[in-house]
Amino acid sequence: MKITIFGSGYVGLVTGACFAEVGNEVMCVDIDENKINRLLNGEIPIYEPGLDTIVSENLREGRLKFTTSITDGVDFGLYQFIAVGTPPDEDGSADLSHVLSVAESIGRNMEDYRIVINKSTVPVGTADLVRETIRTVLEERGRAIDFDVVSNPEFLKEGDAVDDFMKPDRIIVGVDNPRTKELLRNLYAPFNRSHERFIAMDIRSAELTKYAANAMLATKISFMNEIANIAERAGADVEAVRRGIGSDSRIGFSFIYPGVGYGGSCFPKDVRALERTSRKLGYNSRILQAVEAVNDDQKLSLVSKIRDHFDGDLKGRVIAMWGLAFKPNTDDMREAPSRKVMEELWKAGAIVRAYDPVAMDEARRIYGDRPDLVLVEHPDEALKGADALTIMTEWMVFRSPDFELIRNSLKEPVIFDGRNIYNPDMVEQVGISYYSIGRRPRLVR
Ligand code: UDX
Repeated sequence: MKITIFGSGYVGLVTGACFAEVGNEVMCVDIDENKINRLLNGEIPIYEPGLDTIVSENLREGRLKFTTSITDGVDFGLYQFIAVGTPPDEDGSADLSHVLSVAESIGRNMEDYRIVINKSTVPVGTADLVRETIRTVLEERGRAIDFDVVSNPEFLKEGDAVDDFMKPDRIIVGVDNPRTKELLRNLYAPFNRSHERFIAMDIRSAELTKYAANAMLATKISFMNEIANIAERAGADVEAVRRGIGSDSRIGFSFIYPGVGYGGSCFPKDVRALERTSRKLGYNSRILQAVEAVNDDQKLSLVSKIRDHFDGDLKGRVIAMWGLAFKPNTDDMREAPSRKVMEELWKAGAIVRAYDPVAMDEARRIYGDRPDLVLVEHPDEALKGADALTIMTEWMVFRSPDFELIRNSLKEPVIFDGRNIYNPDMVEQVGISYYSIGRRPRLVR
């Protein structure tokens, strides 16, 4: 099958590469010439395990093409995927200008029937706008060409994106035409194995499903962070509570890990956008507002602990930071809790010595050169001359450290663990004070 994908960002690139991997002919279109040139050389602009291999293999086999030509893209595929960004605008609503500009280009250049598929995360009603946009342009051209618009939201996780695409939990397709539904089912057949994962529904429900899924997961996290805050005050251990409630199959063990709050390119943006959508529809979503507010506060909870430990004075203190990415296996620092924490520490006059296995370049790109940020090449180096160690991302390499070395490197050995990756008894026994989330602090004096 011939497929065109507009937008070679996270979602577009993974979608294009995976469709090519199962034998389709795929053309990826992006207006960023530099990005396309890099991709043509097999260079992947994002860090995503496994993606480089399938991109270069399919490029070599000729199944995957990259271009900046929109007209070639519209001409190429019967299936036209829109996978461009929907960044938040000033009030947190999703900015649809990129999506609608692709729709307009499709309308302007199409000569035959096309199936236009929205993969970008877009508010309810966007498919109608896309349809309207294409229809208007076709009218201007005086052409009556048939087309369909489909909503097909993507649920992939950064760091597991290729696997998530190849083995999805579900394939959501919002479609209002039975024939197009069967074409989509056929397109996704290679990924629809072992049991039925193809869930077709009306277009608006598909659009809302994506937001509802992310909002539900974000709610689980904020809820658990709230329980952690209660546990701290009640002298309980949130990790015990987590195991206790997770064993109820109605609740489940996933996404109930307390921590320094959720970050990334999806949860913060999508929770906000759904809240704005609901407000525009005349409904005041108290849950979504609370999920966001709890998360904003949670990102700062570790800073309060650091500040209190040092009696409110962080001026000149050196804080080692392990982990900068918003989660392991990605270099993405969008809305990462590490950023909020660093920025607060800097405001208080502290210096951060940070290490991350892959996000160092990203940190350099965001913050440039500044005297209060020292980026080091090894976790142990971050400890040198530091007053405290903070854990911001639960990378594997941080999970079983040499605690003796930490104790001997830090001036007044103390760890602030934003991901609860250590056993408090063990850290205490080594002689290191230990603060974590939702568990009683251990103080070694
Ligand atoms: C998420 C969704 O999982 C995915 O389906 C959607 O398509 C995009 O958004 P992603 O942003 O890649 O994917 O990250 P995810 O692994 O879901 O983690 C999101 C954030 O929640 C991270 O900051 C993570 O640290 C945090 N988190 C997750 C917790 O704090 N506790 C948990 O129990 C789980």
